[in-house]
Amino acid sequence: MFQANLYAGQRILITGGGTGLGWAMARKLASLGAEIHLCGRRLAVVEDAAARLQADFGVDAFAHALDIRSPDAVQHTVDHIWQQHGALTALVNNAAGNFVSRTEDLSVNGFHAISDIVFRGTFYVTQAVGRKWIAQGRAGAVLSIVVTWVDTGAPFVVPSAMSKAGLDAMTKSLAVEWGPKRIRCNAIAPGVIPTQGASSRLRPSIAGNEDSVDRRQADNPMRRLGTGEDIGNLAAFMLAPDNTWLNGQTITLDGGDALANGAYFTEYQYWSDADWAQAKQHAISANRP
Ligand code: HXC
Repeated sequence: MFQANLYAGQRILITGGGTGLGWAMARKLASLGAEIHLCGRRLAVVEDAAARLQADFGVDAFAHALDIRSPDAVQHTVDHIWQQHGALTALVNNAAGNFVSRTEDLSVNGFHAISDIVFRGTFYVTQAVGRKWIAQGRAGAVLSIVVTWVDTGAPFVVPSAMSKAGLDAMTKSLAVEWGPKRIRCNAIAPGVIPTQGASSRLRPSIAGNEDSVDRRQADNPMRRLGTGEDIGNLAAFMLAPDNTWLNGQTITLDGGDALANGAYFTEYQYWSDADWAQAKQHAISANRP
């Protein structure tokens, strides 16, 4: 689908790049010759992932321990990359957090746990990288991973729906503000691409919910769910060095699912108090190291 060395000479930071969708995009971009920087909260996970990229694709790949909720830590990591390796050419805002909860049950901490990562943390990284590009008069590309619920909203994941809609607004706003500085900002809005992190928190295997993945597959116009290859390919297209007139766009990648079926999780309206207690237990145990 792509020219073999399309990304030679490119240096790309992928937040949360050691697992899930970030890892799928890292593999694709590395396979096309990019130098990859992965950051995540668990150093061992990103170190292991970086070593695999080097072994599998022969590219330079580096790991950085970073919790994007800390603006100081974000600045430190971005400074470190610039000093030790050189200027980034692109940023992939992939790191996220989410769990399903009735909104009336959410604690303040629960709301912050999601919005501090998705809404605030993504802004900190984008601003820190953008400032460097602007100060040095460099071109750059930002690709943010949102979700189809930026258009539909999403019940039972309101902090994520609010935060991802904010990132969609950031994408469109910065496309115009930073476009004249040759910094383009786009986003991918994926539908269901099963990953261990998302499935364990959003589709807990409580009684009655076991077949929710099968149902989503059957209801999808393409009769399948998304894969890492799907998002890797679209990311590689959107960030491609010569793709410089693509700006301010959020591209939905869901096989047509949102058009056919709308918002996710509407079936959770029928959950009982016991179902919710069990779902929370599942999500919290998924979070234990
Ligand atoms: C209710 C919960 C909860 C749950 C945590 N909390 N999990 N409340 N139901 N399932 C509450 C806690 O009780 C606590 O509030 C507060 O949230 C903070 O919890 P911590 O465990 O201390 O938070 P933290 O360690 O910072 O973990 C953040 C996290 C976690 C977001 C909760 O799940 C995480 O790190 N996730 C990262 C990976 C991830 O989520 N991947 C999926 C992304 S999917 P109190 O009041 O008790 O102190 C995605 C979109 C996918 O983004 C789209 C698919 C279509």
